[in-house]
Amino acid sequence: MSNGTEREQWGSKIGFVLAAAGSAVGLGNIWRFPYITGQNGGAAFVVIYVALIFIIGFSVMLAEMAIGRNAQLNAVGSFRKLKGGMWPIVGWMGVIAGFIILSYYGVIGGWTISYILKSFTGLMDFAAQGEAGQVFGSFVSNIPQVIGWQLVFMFVTIFVVYKGIGGGIEKCCRVLMPALFILLLVLIVRSVTLPGAGEGLSFYLKPDFSKMNAGTFGAALGQAFFSLSLGMGCMITYGSYLGKKETLPGAAVQVCFLDTMVALLAGLVIFPAVFAFGVDAGAGAGLTFITLPNVFGQMPGGPIWSGLFFLLLFVAALTSAISLLEVVTAYIIDEIKMPRQKATIIAGILITLLGIPSALGVAGIIPKFAGRDFLDSADFLASNVLLPLGGLFIALFVGWVWTDGAKKEVTNNGSAPFGLYVPWLWVCRLVAPIAIAYIFITGLKW
Ligand code: PHE
Repeated sequence: MSNGTEREQWGSKIGFVLAAAGSAVGLGNIWRFPYITGQNGGAAFVVIYVALIFIIGFSVMLAEMAIGRNAQLNAVGSFRKLKGGMWPIVGWMGVIAGFIILSYYGVIGGWTISYILKSFTGLMDFAAQGEAGQVFGSFVSNIPQVIGWQLVFMFVTIFVVYKGIGGGIEKCCRVLMPALFILLLVLIVRSVTLPGAGEGLSFYLKPDFSKMNAGTFGAALGQAFFSLSLGMGCMITYGSYLGKKETLPGAAVQVCFLDTMVALLAGLVIFPAVFAFGVDAGAGAGLTFITLPNVFGQMPGGPIWSGLFFLLLFVAALTSAISLLEVVTAYIIDEIKMPRQKATIIAGILITLLGIPSALGVAGIIPKFAGRDFLDSADFLASNVLLPLGGLFIALFVGWVWTDGAKKEVTNNGSAPFGLYVPWLWVCRLVAPIAIAYIFITGLKW
């Protein structure tokens, strides 16, 4: 793409939307959303989360897409080209966040691969007794296994980015994303009809605002940014491969909508099962990997359902991991002028190494720090600090600094009217920055 040749482009607008949705829909929806919701009291958290997605998340997403498409560069280069000064630091923070997120994302990605195989090799026998928790516990303490699968996951991620984004991944998303959706619907039916499911449904769907505190907002904001892949230049990078003819606001709405649907559906699968099997809703990172096998164990054809589910979760994770690695790689290609292949391999290896402490922490080999293991700490730093901070500056940038350019970009130079332009502008100018700053200052509970 760089090095004198023309910049790579998506085949079509649908290709772009699918790739952006592929980035957004990932472990954040199915692994992270349920356990963060569980730790933050359930339905009241969900209400705040959805509101933040459509007000702040959508606005920042559109802002990122506009910046990237206009500049046609990576996150750092885009800020340098459009304004310069201190602004490239925002891009830099994004590259660092991408580095950190992918490090532990690769570890969880490895779990998904291992669980595909486990589905057919005995996991279901334990799950049929409601004992998937023990399986999970002994799996994550088996370091060689966990790191081995992390390496496999990272290898596949590196391979795809090495090859460039083209055909394969887009085609694969087109088939597998709808499949994931249908499978979630089937699983909802199974989960809500489990004996004892009702309690889970009311935890998930009946808001009890007394359970809310300042920390709830911080967690919801972090989850919104993480799930939509915002605040770290991912949508800037993907937008930079988009042609000038396509319209941006529609694409941003579609990505937000798809991402939220998948998260909400995943909650409908997980929470009834959590309560039916007496798992603690605040159990943390293992929640999905414990409750779902328990559900599959109760179903005829359990291994097939389970295998299929973890396969799709793997694919969802892969398309997100690719976007994370692409942010770092695009930066190295454009700014350090390295060929794509070399850039991908160097970034991929460093990120994989940084993931190892996360794997060791979950196994209890590295001690916890203030109640959080290494993975949780890295996740907290990236999702609850770096991403919202990135989002804050991105909103300010289009709201106050690069305002005319942004207006032209979101309306395709005036040829594609954007009805919500004025509200969007004011969300970027005031609402998002104030809300993020407020949540940040009051709600950042470590
Ligand atoms: N949105 C992805 C998910 O939900 C994670 C991600 C975060 C991807 C930031 C890219 C950038 O799993």
